[in-house]
Amino acid sequence: MNKNIVLIGFMGTGKTAVGEILALKLNRTLVDTDQMIEEKTGFTVTQIFQRLGEQYFRDRESEVICNLGQFPPGSLVIATGGGVVLREENLKLLSQNSTIILLTASPRAIMRRVSKTGQRPLLAGPDSAEKIRIMLLEREKYYRNYLLRIDTTGRTPRQVARKIMGYIGNR
Ligand code: S3P
Repeated sequence: MNKNIVLIGFMGTGKTAVGEILALKLNRTLVDTDQMIEEKTGFTVTQIFQRLGEQYFRDRESEVICNLGQFPPGSLVIATGGGVVLREENLKLLSQNSTIILLTASPRAIMRRVSKTGQRPLLAGPDSAEKIRIMLLEREKYYRNYLLRIDTTGRTPRQVARKIMGYIGNR
C-alpha cells in the first residue's frame, strides 16, 4: 500500500501506542506530531500550552503536518494529536495519499488512560471526566465523517493494530 496511515481520534484513544505497533509491523517510520512539536520547540506539550498558549501550539501542529509532505508517500504511520481535526487545512493535507483511521473509546476508558500520564494540559485540574464529556461533545462534529473507525475500548493496542492491518490488507 503506497499510502500513509494516519491515526486520528480523541486523547487517550491509543493513537501513539497503536501507531508504534503498526509502524513496526509494516516496517514504516512512526511520526508522532506531538513529539515532533516538542522536538521543534524544545518544550513539552504541557509547557507550550502553559507558557505560549494553545494558538501557538496549533500553529506548530499545522507546520509539522505541512512538513510531512517531504516524506515519500506510503512510508509513514502518523499518530496525530487529538485536536488535529480542529483545523480543516490539517485534514486536507493529511488526507493526501493517506488512509485516515479514526480511533474511538468510551469516556470512561479515555479517563482511565489519560489519568495514567497527567500530560494532557487541556484535561488538567479538577473534574477531568466532565472536561472529557464536554470536549467529546464539542468534537463529535469533526469525527463523525470518518468511516474507517475502530472502538478501542477494551482492546489492547496490539488488537487494534491487527484490526487496522485487516482493513488495509483489504484495500
Ligand atoms: C490535544 C491532544 C494531545 C496534544 C495536546 C492537545 C487535543 O494529543 O496534542 O495536548 O486538543 O486533543 P493526544 O491526543 O496524543 O493526547
